Amino acid sequence: MNPQLADSAFIRACRRQTVPHTPVWFMRQAGRSLPEYRKVREGVPMLTACATPDLVAEITMQPVRRYGVDAAILFSDIVVPLVAVGVELDIKPGVGPVVENPIRDRAGVAALRPLEPGDVPYVTEAVRTLTGELGGTPLIGFAGAPFTLASYLIEGGPSKNHDHTKAMMYGEPELWHALMERLSEIALGFLRVQVEAGASAVQLFDSWVGAVGPADYREFVLPHTSRIFAGLTDLDVPRIHFGVGTGELLGLLGEAGADVVGVDWRVSLDEAALRVGPGKALQGNLDPAVLLAPWAVVERRAREVLERGRVAEGHVFNLGHGVLPSTDPDQLARLTALVHEVSAR
Ligand code: CP3
Repeated sequence: MNPQLADSAFIRACRRQTVPHTPVWFMRQAGRSLPEYRKVREGVPMLTACATPDLVAEITMQPVRRYGVDAAILFSDIVVPLVAVGVELDIKPGVGPVVENPIRDRAGVAALRPLEPGDVPYVTEAVRTLTGELGGTPLIGFAGAPFTLASYLIEGGPSKNHDHTKAMMYGEPELWHALMERLSEIALGFLRVQVEAGASAVQLFDSWVGAVGPADYREFVLPHTSRIFAGLTDLDVPRIHFGVGTGELLGLLGEAGADVVGVDWRVSLDEAALRVGPGKALQGNLDPAVLLAPWAVVERRAREVLERGRVAEGHVFNLGHGVLPSTDPDQLARLTALVHEVSAR
């Protein structure tokens, strides 16, 4: 990694080194809460946008320009690598990923092949362009974790209870592990492409893994997430591991091999630090819905997050999940400035 990036507040915090201020970025910072995003996306389907390098670069830059956040996250989606290896799916506005033929048997699993860099040339191109444009601001690459991807593939779309997913996990453990292995390979391949093209950190999004308890996480998920993190070690970039509703899993998310554990808003950062244990930085964890309240409320809550985050060995300020589409961008601009100002040392 170039010395300027290695010395950025974001990378330093991930590595639990001293920082000039607490770094801040927002999950889903590039997206529907920004008018300039809606403008460039007009008439362009989501997956087409993700495969158009100029558009990817522009949308990735929008929140960096507007907010002055400490990191950019590549504009893409967790299902992009699945589409790239031939899975038939679409992202439906207001719904999310919808899969034509849900995967529920051996043949469906066998059809999932590993991702090669040549499958996503538009990602390589966009990341290269971005690392030039961003200068000293790190770019975060990301992938969906195997549980969350499995849930979309098995259910065929978004799901509340993950019924079919758990039915396979409990009822056909061999098939489950085979599917998780293939999805881990794909996620790892997608992360490596991004880092090899210039991304300075990676985040594994396991948005729906809070649906399982710790014993089941250890048996059905941990072997796979561990292999992904182990497969990134040689690249020497910080690895962030995030999920929603993971209060009971925080220690395991760290154990999987992440350098930084993402925390949602349900567990305060001081308590999360105890659950995660030493040797990890934390990321989080303002409830995204707080941003819908008046500024005075946002300020009070954000100061509280910073205060509790001081207990962690390293703290990257973020929301506890993605920016809600109805968020006023001015609130995020003020929040970014507040975090920088309050935490300056
Ligand atoms: O953080 C960022 O700004 C980078 C871009 C990003 C997107 N999706 C863009 C997107 C990232 C990191 C993701 C990850 C993602 N995608 C996750 C994990 C993070 C999380 O929020 O839990 C998940 C579960 C998905 C699956 C997915 N894709 C959903 C649930 C949706 C929303 C559907 C909707 O319209 O409500 C998408 C579509 C999507 N991905 C949009 C964006 C900006 C909206 C599509 C649009 O603007 O038309």
